Amino acid sequence: MKCISCGAEYDNMEIIYTCKECDSLLEVLCHAEVSRDIFACRKSTMWKYKEFMPVDHSHIVSLEEGGTPFCHCPQLGDELGIDLYVKVEGSNPTGSFKDRGMSVGITKALELGVSTVGCASTGNTSASLAAYAARAGLRCIVLLPAGKVALGKLAQAMFHGAEVVSVRGNFDEALETITALALKGELYLLNSVNPFRLEGQKSIGFEIVDDLGWKSPDRIVLPVGNAGNISAIWKGIREFHEAGFISDLPRMTGIQAEGAAPIARAVAKGRDDIVPVENPETIATAIRIGAPVSAKKALRAIYESDGMAETVADEEILSAQKLLARTEGIGVEPASAASIAGLIKIVDAGKIDKGEQIVCVVTGHLLKDPNTAINACTKPVEVDADVGALSRIINPA
Ligand code: F0G
Repeated sequence: MKCISCGAEYDNMEIIYTCKECDSLLEVLCHAEVSRDIFACRKSTMWKYKEFMPVDHSHIVSLEEGGTPFCHCPQLGDELGIDLYVKVEGSNPTGSFKDRGMSVGITKALELGVSTVGCASTGNTSASLAAYAARAGLRCIVLLPAGKVALGKLAQAMFHGAEVVSVRGNFDEALETITALALKGELYLLNSVNPFRLEGQKSIGFEIVDDLGWKSPDRIVLPVGNAGNISAIWKGIREFHEAGFISDLPRMTGIQAEGAAPIARAVAKGRDDIVPVENPETIATAIRIGAPVSAKKALRAIYESDGMAETVADEEILSAQKLLARTEGIGVEPASAASIAGLIKIVDAGKIDKGEQIVCVVTGHLLKDPNTAINACTKPVEVDADVGALSRIINPA
């Protein structure tokens, strides 16, 4: 592992989350001498790229995550004047991209011989950690901001047997608390500050360029919360570029909710650090985060790739969520729809070229947050089981 700021290096078997010299973020150094042809005949999971997963392969904990749908979206794309693809991460085993990170993270936990894992979460991380910890037979403790976690995610964390603790406070406060506990050695922290999480999530970048026939799209657009995923995807893309598998690079475009947008605000000012948002608020509870831990890596990804960041209002998120569901049949949770909402906004503002090939990463499944989905629709009409009555309803005239 290497510090992204001062370059200090650490052994991969050391349990450490930030640099001991300067407290900055760590990344796992990964380099593989293979030909991309070896991937072709393998099963379509993220372990297809196992040479780029720096953990012990003798006891991989997997639910066959990755290999998610890569849907061309001509209806919406034509409307926007672009060539649009959507990477549907809701199709992972627990319904979000977090499974990629947890497969590597829990494999690493076994390699380190720990017995208890934990995280703070806006919901999806806890759902995923609970499932993978169950599979590995590890004790799992999750901290959730009280009253701010979507129903589906809470159900998953509880049902997979995690010890769920509701914290009076927001995600940032919950993360600070559990990090302190991890530093006391009471559990192995599997938030995305743990660089092994990002090693799994970088496979989204691998799959996108593989899906496009070993070509980079012009742009990758995704929601940004704690800022791990945009950093991970950029790391993956760079590794495949360095390996010679692709010759071009995408522009990384991060979208945040207006009420929780420290990274977009930093980019707007050209800064390489953030001013935390004290009381983050958005309907997209997954990205209701004011002090993203991986901000430094995310800003680096955006600047290095000549990308951009944008903010979207809650109404724009909800209308994009419905648009994607009703024009392309893809159901995503509100945070995921932020990528579509942001894309629409930057197209409308003329900030991207017509005809660009763009991949939106939609990060979690519609059913994660059933309440928001139901509240966005009109109530079903109730009718007797009678053909005449039903006819009058479907053909009013
Ligand atoms: N989309 C969804 C559905 C998420 O659950 C998250 C993060 C993000 C986007 C943002 O990704 O944090 O890597 O920038 N959810 C975390 C959690 C924070 O606890 O489940 P990020």
